[in-house]
Amino acid sequence: MPPGGPRTESEPESMWLATTPETDYAPLAGGLDVDTVVVGGGITGLTAADRLTAAGQTVAVLEADRIAESTTGHTTAKLTSQHGLLYDYLTSTFDDERARQYAEANEAAIDTVESRIEALGVDCGFERLPAYVYAASADDVDSLRAEAAAAADLGLPASFTESTDLPYDVPGAVRFDHQAQFHPRTYLLSVAESVHGDGSHVFEETRALDVDPGDPCEVETRRGTVTADDVVVATHFPLDDRNGYFARMHPKQAYLLAVRVGGDLPGGMYYSTASPADTFRPCTVDGEEFLIVGGQSHDVGVTDPPTAERYRRCEAFAREHFDVESVAYRWSTHDYFTVDRVPYVGRAGPGRDHVYVGTGFNGWGMSGGVAAGEIIAELVLTGDSDRADVFDPLRLEPGASAWRFLRENAKVAGRFVGDWVAALSSAGDLPASGEATVTRRNGRPCGVYRDEDGDVHAVSAVCPHMDCLVRWNDAERTWDCPCHGSRFDHDGEVISGPAVEDLPTTEL
Ligand SMILES: Cc1cc2nc3c(=O)[nH]c(=O)nc-3n(C[C@H](O)[C@H](O)[C@H](O)COP(=O)(O)OP(=O)(O)OC[C@H]3O[C@@H](n4cnc5c(N)ncnc54)[C@H](O)[C@@H]3O)c2cc1C
Ligand code: FES
Repeated sequence: MPPGGPRTESEPESMWLATTPETDYAPLAGGLDVDTVVVGGGITGLTAADRLTAAGQTVAVLEADRIAESTTGHTTAKLTSQHGLLYDYLTSTFDDERARQYAEANEAAIDTVESRIEALGVDCGFERLPAYVYAASADDVDSLRAEAAAAADLGLPASFTESTDLPYDVPGAVRFDHQAQFHPRTYLLSVAESVHGDGSHVFEETRALDVDPGDPCEVETRRGTVTADDVVVATHFPLDDRNGYFARMHPKQAYLLAVRVGGDLPGGMYYSTASPADTFRPCTVDGEEFLIVGGQSHDVGVTDPPTAERYRRCEAFAREHFDVESVAYRWSTHDYFTVDRVPYVGRAGPGRDHVYVGTGFNGWGMSGGVAAGEIIAELVLTGDSDRADVFDPLRLEPGASAWRFLRENAKVAGRFVGDWVAALSSAGDLPASGEATVTRRNGRPCGVYRDEDGDVHAVSAVCPHMDCLVRWNDAERTWDCPCHGSRFDHDGEVISGPAVEDLPTTEL
């Protein structure tokens, strides 16, 4: 640790947001008719919109807040088809054909981004370099060898190696060549500019409230209704969950730091087999070099250890392995993990032939979101995609998913019951300054935060999505729902869904 202890106490701030301009696209103002509505302005929605406008469609992107800020603005931004250890599992639990579709869709996503960058002429730090999963223990070497073999059989540029450029020894690694990294916001702000205009629109501060899958489809917002032939739901967690995604995905939070280090940065992107995994990659932004390093992934809403401690553990890992000079930025976000480890991409469900969804990227939605945007655009434009089968949102792979399905839903049920019992039997005490608690007020669970000035902020602790109780996130100062990942600021305003309504403020 440096003199004075760890340096991870400053306010969280994503490096991607801090080094790019804010956007200010106007909100929707009244009704509109376009070919396709895209709900959600992250990497998935903007990729779909880009592809559709390039094909001559008129598109309206509806973004609840600001584009490319949410999960996409808080990523590590590795652009790779290497998604931990996956391909040995995919070939054995799905089949070779669908494993190949997954591999090809994600490899193609890297090429898509590279060629879009060239066409747009945007300097977003895109760089080809190898990606590694390295063994945190010698016990993991056999599974790394099996992964390298399975991935190579699928045509991926994969090999097993005992040699890396890390400043410490590892027992072995799976190396994928010709992968990439980039500045996701610089890229996507340029993509959004090219979408906006000529009858297509990017609307910010325009939250979609409901999707009517009729003919034409209608997307309702408080600022007007947009009609269209097709709707792409790219809201991270799907808006209007009529296909039970809440029971098939669970949210996990992870933490990142951008640190300045003495000496050389590694020349590849790295991910470990440790649990939770460590992740890091080099990065140059505005001429300055950083190592982005983090991990510490956990189920959203798990507060032991507290989120602030997770940042300290990321910093401790960085300092143990690298000559860390200072911590420049720290940030965190969550992603959705599906029960069978493959995203849900395609037609949303029966009776909803013109509504498409892209979600559940399992922590790999840079390539996954681009692949999803491309596949959905192809489905909208041609009705078919030869890479769509593996991602079918309505698939059921009992062998791959049954155990995780039961385990995750049992956890949700346990949190639901446990948190309600704890809140309703609480003594009703108020927290100290800078702290928060869920307590009982007028017979109802209430989330109370007392800020550093002593002002009290009280909100209903009942998540409007499905009535779980929110928990306090001490590092981000947000109320997080442990069931399906909705997040709210300390005054109850929804930051991210599935909830679309705020936590009502309450009187104490
Ligand atoms: C810590 C961390 C590191 C990661 N690192 C990597 C990595 O290195 N490589 C990788 O491939 N993946 C990575 N991921 C995963 C990746 O960042 C995500 O999968 C991806 O950004 C998801 O993009 P998205 O477009 O689906 O969602 P988002 O970026 O969340 O976009 C969804 C958008 O929809 C908007 N929205 C929501 N509801 C509504 C509504 N009702 N109306 C209108 N708009 C709405 C939101 O405001 C948001 O802007 C990481 C994830 C985490 C948690
Ligand atoms: S996000 Fe589903 S209950 Fe809160």
